[in-house]
Amino acid sequence: MASPAIDAKRVIADLRELARRTSDERGAQRVAWTETWREAREFTGELLGELGLRAERDPAGNVWARLEGADPDAPALAIGSHVDSVPDGGWLDGALGVMAALGALRCWARSGPPPRPLLFVDWADEEGARFGRSLLGSSAFAGTLDPAEVAELRDADGETLTAALASNGVVLADAPLAAERQPALGAYLELHIEQGPVLEADGYPVAAVSGCAGVERHRLRFAGQPSHAGTTPMDARRDAGLAAAETAVAVERIARDRVGVGTTGALALRPGIPTAVPGEAELAVDLRHHDPGRLAAMLSDVLDAARIAAEKRGCALATEPIWRIEPIPFAPKLVDLANTVVGERGGRPEPLTSGALHDAAEVARVVPAAMLFCPSRAGLSHAAAEDTDEADLELAIAAFGELVNRVLR
Ligand code: GLV
Ligand code: MN
Ligand code: MN
Repeated sequence: MASPAIDAKRVIADLRELARRTSDERGAQRVAWTETWREAREFTGELLGELGLRAERDPAGNVWARLEGADPDAPALAIGSHVDSVPDGGWLDGALGVMAALGALRCWARSGPPPRPLLFVDWADEEGARFGRSLLGSSAFAGTLDPAEVAELRDADGETLTAALASNGVVLADAPLAAERQPALGAYLELHIEQGPVLEADGYPVAAVSGCAGVERHRLRFAGQPSHAGTTPMDARRDAGLAAAETAVAVERIARDRVGVGTTGALALRPGIPTAVPGEAELAVDLRHHDPGRLAAMLSDVLDAARIAAEKRGCALATEPIWRIEPIPFAPKLVDLANTVVGERGGRPEPLTSGALHDAAEVARVVPAAMLFCPSRAGLSHAAAEDTDEADLELAIAAFGELVNRVLR
């Protein structure tokens, strides 16, 4: 039987409908464990229902659906991504992979059973936007989530991750049971936007992805002395805000020197008023590199810079890891196959390495995994301006459908 072709226009229409339901004037608001995220999942549940499939949630809150294969005992191909977004996010990050996976299931549901089972998956809390811990659901699946390490993570309002999961019916201590599904999977594929500038600059509509960069994410706290802005002489200050600011500038310099990327994405001062020298400052630093040695060197340089800034400003320094993941390569054979499909469609001749994190990185620890990327206009993502030319979207979705079909064979 000939393999059916994915309906890319329908996938794009579903993406637009998801954006209509779950965005406001500032962008997508599908932050994991919130009402809008649940609404997004209701929509994907409706789309699965149209195919006669039932969404099933695992103990980590990942949503799965199964299209039975002609050989039901053959290892399944899982396809998917995440519907959660960052606050004020874009319409494609994660959503593209979820809707493309639904599109692939739709074409097989209509044409007759795929040679082997096809699994849909929507991973829970890929972004880590609220609690700082990315790839939560996929790490539970991969067996790398330690509930004790994340139980006390708090959001900006002080709510714990444990409580947020509980109010979504997920018992954090049970999340590792999601790993029980591992033996059913033979491979995992994910389509995503690049979220960076390379494909647009190269002029390619699609690329295979060879793996993901490693991440070191840490919280740094400086404690000085809060004091009056009008009366404290400049040389008598213990300004935690300046220690933090100097560290943030050092993060930039170190990332450039080590040819990686480094971001101070959160910075809070206390008391945080114009008339007081900040007595406390907290910053969250995210460092990424494709090379494990250079990533470790970046972290060591940043911690040294923070210690020097603290000493210079008369502050105490406390550091706390939020999360880390080493660089993860995808399965070479699957990457080769993806690269072949990409090449046949005029895509980038060489695979890209991803600077952004993806659930596929966690999955790749236990199941052969690969990804496809399509371009991001102006390289923008994690922003409402995130977009991709419709022709590129269509081509990348079609390439994904073809890759799915070849892996199913
Ligand atoms: C997720 O999108 C990340 O790369 O942090
Ligand atoms: Mn994503
Ligand atoms: Mn993202």
